[in-house]
Amino acid sequence: MDETLLAVIREAGQEHVLKFRDELSPGERSRFEDQLAAVNWRELPQLAAEYVLRRPDTAIPDDLAPADFFPLEPRDAAMRELYARAEARGEELLRAGKVCCLTVAGGQGTRLGFDGPKGTYPIGPATGRTLFSYFAGSVARAQEKYGRTLLWFIMTSPINREATEEYFQKEGFFGLDPEQVFFFTQGTMPAFGHDGKLLLSAKDSLSLSPDGHGGTLRALRVSGALDRMAAAGCEYLSYFQVDNPLVPVVYPRFIGLHALEGAEMSAIMLSKTGPKEKLGNFCVSGGRVRIIEYSDLPEALAEKRNPDGTLAFIAGSPAIHVISRAFVEKLTAGGTLKLPWHRADKKIAALDESGNVTAPAEPNGVKLETFIFDAMPLAEKVVILEGDRQELFAPTKNAVGVDSAESCRRMLTARNARRLRAAGVEIPLRPDGTPDAVIEISPRLVLDDADAGELVRKTGLRAVLPGEVVAL
Ligand code: UD1
Repeated sequence: MDETLLAVIREAGQEHVLKFRDELSPGERSRFEDQLAAVNWRELPQLAAEYVLRRPDTAIPDDLAPADFFPLEPRDAAMRELYARAEARGEELLRAGKVCCLTVAGGQGTRLGFDGPKGTYPIGPATGRTLFSYFAGSVARAQEKYGRTLLWFIMTSPINREATEEYFQKEGFFGLDPEQVFFFTQGTMPAFGHDGKLLLSAKDSLSLSPDGHGGTLRALRVSGALDRMAAAGCEYLSYFQVDNPLVPVVYPRFIGLHALEGAEMSAIMLSKTGPKEKLGNFCVSGGRVRIIEYSDLPEALAEKRNPDGTLAFIAGSPAIHVISRAFVEKLTAGGTLKLPWHRADKKIAALDESGNVTAPAEPNGVKLETFIFDAMPLAEKVVILEGDRQELFAPTKNAVGVDSAESCRRMLTARNARRLRAAGVEIPLRPDGTPDAVIEISPRLVLDDADAGELVRKTGLRAVLPGEVVAL
C-alpha cells in the first residue's frame, strides 16, 4: 500500500479501516485503496471533533430576521410593470438558449421506502408516469415552445448513477436527444461511528454516502458540466429537486427577475402552512440571505407572530432556484469552496469487530452533508420570489401522509382540474371542493395554462365525469 496514504490514514487516527486488509484478494485490495485515496483524510480529525464527537448547534445569529421577498401578486403598478418585464426577459433568455435545467437526484430517498433512483418512482395519478418522465416531458415542451434546445443536467450519486442512466436508455430518453441530457455524479462522504471512527460497510469498503446537494457545486465543475454549459452559452441554471413533479422546469418570470436584478442565486418562496412545516426558512442576517433548515430554526422563532397574527418567519423554501453559472464558476474556482457541514444521525449497517455486518436498531453513526442553499449567503445579490404553491410544489417524500406520493397525486389532479376548468371544461367536485376525478395531463403537451387551453380546443373536451380517470 502507498506509504504516504498509510501515513495520513494513521495520522487521522483511522487505521482501524485497514483491519481486514490481509483477507482481501488483490483486486479487492486495489479497489479499496483507490477508494481510500479519494478521501480527504487531513480534514477528518477536525470534522470528527466538530460535528461527530459533539453535537453542533446551528449558530443562530442575534440579528436573524425574516427575509424580504417579491410577492406573488404585484403590490403596485411599478411592480406589475417589473413582473411583465421579467416575464418578457425570461422568455427572451429561453429563446436565446441562455438557460439550462439542473435536477438534483443523488439522494437516497430512504423515507419513501422505494428501491431504485427516486426519479423512477411512478407518480402519475392515472398512468403512473415517473418523476423523471414528468421533467423530461416538460423539458421537451419548453424547448418546443421557446425554439431552443434546453440542456438538462442531472446530478446522481455513485449509488444511483448507473441505474439512472440505464433507465433513461430504456425509455429512449423520453424522446429527448441523449446529447442534451448530461448526467454527472456527486461526491461521497464516509460515515462516522459516534466515537468519531469511520464505519466500514464491507471488509473492502468504507461506508460512503452522497455528500449532500451542496456537493452539486463542486461536481458541476469537476464533471465538466460547467464547461459544457459555457460552450453552449448557458448563463442561468434552473434548479429543482427530483421529488417535485409539479415544478415548472423553467419559470420565465423567475428567471427574468433574477437576470434583471443582477442576482447570483435566487429562490422561490412559499408561505408556510404552519410554524412546523418541514421547509427551509428564508432569513436574513448581516445583510445576507440564508436558509435555516426547519430542524434548526428555534421553536420561539418558528412560532413568532407579527402583530396581525401571521407567522414572522413565513417564507418556506420549495428548493427551486435560479443560479448564475458565473456564480458557480466563481465559488468553485481554485477548489477552495467550503460549505458548512450538517450532521444527521442515522442507522448505518456496518461491520463489527469480527467482520460481520450488523443492522442497528438505533442510530449508530453520523452522516455529514452540505446544502446548496448555504451558498446563498455567499451571493452578492439574491432575489426571493413568492410562488403559487398549487402550481409548483407537491413533493413526494414519504410513503404516506404529509408530502407523500398520495398527497402529490392529489395535487397533480387538482392543478390539472384547475387548468381544464380555466379552459372551460366542467369538473365534478366533491363536497369539500376537491375534484371528484383523477386527471393526468401529459407534461409533453401542457407546460402552462395556455397549453391547456390549446389542448382543450384540440380534443373538444367539455366535461369530466364524476369518478372518471382521465389521461390526456
Ligand atoms: C429539502 C430542503 C428543504 C426544502 C425541502 C422542499 C434540504 C436539506 N432541505 O428537504 O429546505 O424546504 O426540500 O421540499 O435539502 N440530494 C442529492 N444529493 C444528496 C442529498 C440530496 O442530490 O446528497 C437531492 C435529493 O435527491 C432531493 C433533494 O436533494 O432531490 C432534497 O433532499 P432531501 O434529503 O429529500 O431534503 P428534504 O429534507 O426533503
